[in-house]
Amino acid sequence: MSDHPEPASPDSTKAAARTPLADRISEPLQRFIGVLIGSNHRPPRWFKSLLNGTWLGHPLHPVITDIPIGAWTLAALFDIIWLVSPTSNAWAARGAEVLVIAGVVVSLGAIVTGSADWSDTYGRERTIGLLHGALMILVAIVYAVSFGLRYTVGSGESVVGAVLGFVGVAVWGVAAFLGGEMVFTLGTNVNHTAWEAAGEDFEPVIALNDLPENRLTRVVAAGVPVVLVRLGDKIAAISATCPHAGGPLDEGSLEDGVVTCPWHSSRFRMRDGRVLTGPATTNAPRYNVRIRDGQVEVLRAQGH
Ligand code: FES
Repeated sequence: MSDHPEPASPDSTKAAARTPLADRISEPLQRFIGVLIGSNHRPPRWFKSLLNGTWLGHPLHPVITDIPIGAWTLAALFDIIWLVSPTSNAWAARGAEVLVIAGVVVSLGAIVTGSADWSDTYGRERTIGLLHGALMILVAIVYAVSFGLRYTVGSGESVVGAVLGFVGVAVWGVAAFLGGEMVFTLGTNVNHTAWEAAGEDFEPVIALNDLPENRLTRVVAAGVPVVLVRLGDKIAAISATCPHAGGPLDEGSLEDGVVTCPWHSSRFRMRDGRVLTGPATTNAPRYNVRIRDGQVEVLRAQGH
């Protein structure tokens, strides 16, 4: 095997030139993050699920981000109090110093969990997420420098450190806006089954004789795609839409009564829709099943 890479053809060179810069950065970066957090490991991929927040039933990243944002906001307030009257408000400079470093330490957790979530995005949300993440890393660096300056003077009283803190507020304001854009406009990490309709009564969806054994089968109930599986004399049914990003669970794989999403490999237990492995953090809605006149009938379970 040659050690030299194949020379690029003119076509491949043109294709590379056409690929947006954000994609050229994002693709290898996502692969790298995937390796670090074990995205391609066999289930249960506990480290990735831990970072995604599967254990919490809620994405972990937004829970953590509130802490540095709150600390840095309060630090800015303390800096203003100190700058207004440095002699009588020396305590405020010391308080801002503590808040700045506390925010930096916790922001590392926000960066790690955010990277884990971002590694499963693509398209516009990936591009916005890349910018959001880059700005937040820059913010953490700015605050780390700000802390260094405050610490160096011994009393926390550093005008440049305080000014850097104000710069940080401006930059994380933009970054937070982009994070909100991802969630509220593009639906990143929003439960994609949250608005699924539930019928009022059982609805026939397929003849029992047409339902194959041990195979994922897509049906529709109350206008909602549902995936069925027949396991011996039992039939299990959950929503066919993956809560994580809307992947088609009926096109996934089935093993030991557990379905794996074809998009990012979240795993759900068919018998109750429970999420076992992230990046999904919410369960798939479960359906009750009954047989009437040779027809399989389903109704979304209450509370699911
Ligand atoms: S859509 Fe992402 S794991 Fe299913």
